[in-house]
Amino acid sequence: MALWRILRSQLLWVGGLGALGSVVWPGVASAQSVPSPLDPASPNAALVANLYWIIFWMSVVVFVLVEGLLIYSAIRFRRRDDNEVPVQVHGNNRMEIAWTIGPALIAAAVFFLSWQVMLADRPPTADGVSAVSVASVCFNNDVSPEEAAQFLAVSTVTIEVVGRQWWWAYNYLDYGFTSAADLYVPVGEVVVLQLTSRDVAHSWWIPQLGGKQDLYPGATTYSWFQVTEPGVYEGHCTELCGSSHAYMPMRVVAVPADQFDTWAQNQAAANEVVERDYSSNELASEGQDLFTSKGCIGCHAVGGLGAGAEVGPDLTNLASRQQIAGMLPYNRENLKSWIIDPSQKPGSKMPRIPLTDAEAEAIVEYLDTQR
Ligand code: CUA
Repeated sequence: MALWRILRSQLLWVGGLGALGSVVWPGVASAQSVPSPLDPASPNAALVANLYWIIFWMSVVVFVLVEGLLIYSAIRFRRRDDNEVPVQVHGNNRMEIAWTIGPALIAAAVFFLSWQVMLADRPPTADGVSAVSVASVCFNNDVSPEEAAQFLAVSTVTIEVVGRQWWWAYNYLDYGFTSAADLYVPVGEVVVLQLTSRDVAHSWWIPQLGGKQDLYPGATTYSWFQVTEPGVYEGHCTELCGSSHAYMPMRVVAVPADQFDTWAQNQAAANEVVERDYSSNELASEGQDLFTSKGCIGCHAVGGLGAGAEVGPDLTNLASRQQIAGMLPYNRENLKSWIIDPSQKPGSKMPRIPLTDAEAEAIVEYLDTQR
């Protein structure tokens, strides 16, 4: 029966939307460890989340309206008798104009709102002013005017983020040192990211800290965030960048400003030290020598040792990171397995250097002291 067919197709639609909804609905989606853009921790991310909800509820209204009219019409104007010929109508200028202008206005509104968010997601530029401040976006209900005004007034930390196959380098431009893997930042301060790549296109995205930004070789793009709560914010490279794209996680570690200062001072101080004194740790001392003699130093810097080498990640604070090579949890066993066989990461640029077990142990001991 025609009516049943129409109703069934509409019910399938509703069912499909329900299934989709269960995927996007934050309560269902935020299965704890999955970082959700709907759980923002920075003013620009809050704008993205707000925009999502505005468009979501606009869609709900359109959905209910269109489905309601469809179901109503299917019932109200159904053929009640086999011999009945429905009234034949054709064209209705007023309605056609209405359903052309209506959706056009909705599309224009969505464009305008999205555009505002895109502009506000640009960082404050070199002269310290963002194209559109968060405060001026017309639906910034999660960002108090005081907070937003503060955003332009507080100090900024500028960090150059370099995407590589397959890891992230962080150059702390204001402090003069380089780090990798975990991006330490101070809570409450505006962190301006200058993003570039040394090989292929990558994409930066910490869902809780703002929109995506691509990185290209030979060009600089910008992003920013201002973390509101201490914590670890995770993301992943979102541009297919080669065989180990899957092993290019990113992690922002946001700590209180004083803790950040201590961390930064320690990193800067570590960069002054070329050869560490291991008179009380023979194994580490041996590891330090091997690090040079086996050629590790050609690609990796550890503090002042091998400074300037940037083929592989800077290892100055390796032992305080949560992962090795973006794929193994940090522990001595995994570190050793990685040093012995880097080919476990597809496409890894790190060569397999022949090492005896004792040599690998010594290098592990040396690296495990880097905090
Ligand atoms: Cu870098 Cu995908």
